[in-house]
Amino acid sequence: MMSYNLLKGKKGIIFGALDPNSIAWKTAERVHEEGGEFVLTNAPIAMRMGQINDLAKKTGSQIIPADATSEEDLQNLVEKSMEILGGKIDFVLHSIGMSVNVRKGRAYTDQKYDWTQKGTDVSAMSFHKVMSALYKNDAMNEWGSIVALTYMAAQRVFPDYNDMADNKAYLESIARSFGYFFGRDKKVRVNTISQSPTPTTAGQGVKGFDGFIAYAEKMSPLGNATAMDCANYTVTLFSNLTKRVTLQNLYNDGGFSNMGVSDAVMDTFVGEE
Ligand SMILES: NC(=O)c1ccc[n+]([C@@H]2O[C@H](COP(=O)([O-])OP(=O)(O)OC[C@H]3O[C@@H](n4cnc5c(N)ncnc54)[C@H](O)[C@@H]3O)[C@@H](O)[C@H]2O)c1
Repeated sequence: MMSYNLLKGKKGIIFGALDPNSIAWKTAERVHEEGGEFVLTNAPIAMRMGQINDLAKKTGSQIIPADATSEEDLQNLVEKSMEILGGKIDFVLHSIGMSVNVRKGRAYTDQKYDWTQKGTDVSAMSFHKVMSALYKNDAMNEWGSIVALTYMAAQRVFPDYNDMADNKAYLESIARSFGYFFGRDKKVRVNTISQSPTPTTAGQGVKGFDGFIAYAEKMSPLGNATAMDCANYTVTLFSNLTKRVTLQNLYNDGGFSNMGVSDAVMDTFVGEE
C-alpha cells in the first residue's frame, strides 16, 4: 500500500479493533502508515480475548479499555487519550456493533426487548455518548473528523439483519444531529460510512451471511468493498482533503446501493437464450 502522509501530525482514537479481520484493525494499520497517532480502545471483555496487543505493538499505540456504553469509561478514555497523545484529538473511528437478538437467533418479529435495548445502547447510543464525551471535554481540534460505520439495512430491508437495521438508522441519525452541533460549535465533521458486507466477527454473526455477501458481490459493478477499502476511505475522511464533508452517510459499497439488478444476478434467473 502506498503512503501519502495524509495524517501526519494528527492524533485520534480508534474503537473496535478485535482481530485482524476487524475493519477498525485495518483502519488502524492504514492510519499508522499515513503518519497518524492514536489510542486504541475496546470493551474490557474484547480485550481479554483479543489480539489487540499485537496491533498496539505494531502501530506504537497505547490501549485504554472502555465499554462504549459507559459514560464513566468514555470520560476516562477521553482524558487519558489527551494525556497520552499530548493534546486534543483530530480523528475518531466508531466501529462498534452488536445485537443480542442476532447473536441468539431471535426473529425480528419476536425480539426480547431487553436484548434489543442492549443492542441499541451498544450499536447506536454509544456513538452519542462518545461524541458527548468529546464535546463536553472540548477534546476535538477544529477541523477534526469523526466517522462511524453503518450498513444499508438502515434504508432498505435485509430481513436477517434483524434489529441491527433499526440500530443503524438510529446511528446515522445521531451522526446528522450531533454533527450539526459539532460543526457549528467546534468545526468538527461527522459522517457515517455505509460499508459492503465484510467477513468479520460481527459480519459473520448475521444469519445467511454467505448468501448475503455473494449476492452483494454479484450486484455491485465494482464488487464488494473490502475492509481495506473501508480503511482507505476513512483515511480520506480523516485527512484535510475532505474538510467540508459533513452530516453525510457515504456509501462504500462498489455501487450496490444504486443498483436495481445486474446481468450477473439476472443470469441466475433466466436460462440460456
Ligand atoms: N462486517 C460487515 O459486514 C459490516 C458491514 C457494514 C458495517 N459494519 C459495521 O462495522 C463496524 C465494525 O464491525 P466489524 O465488521 O469490523 O466487526 P468486529 O466484530 O471486528 O468489530 C465490532 C467491535 O465492536 C466492539 N464492541 C462490542 N461491544 C462493545 C462495547 N460495549 N464497547 C466497546 N466496543 C464494543 C467489539 O469488541 C468489536 O471490536 C460495526 O459498526 C459494524 O456494524 C460491518
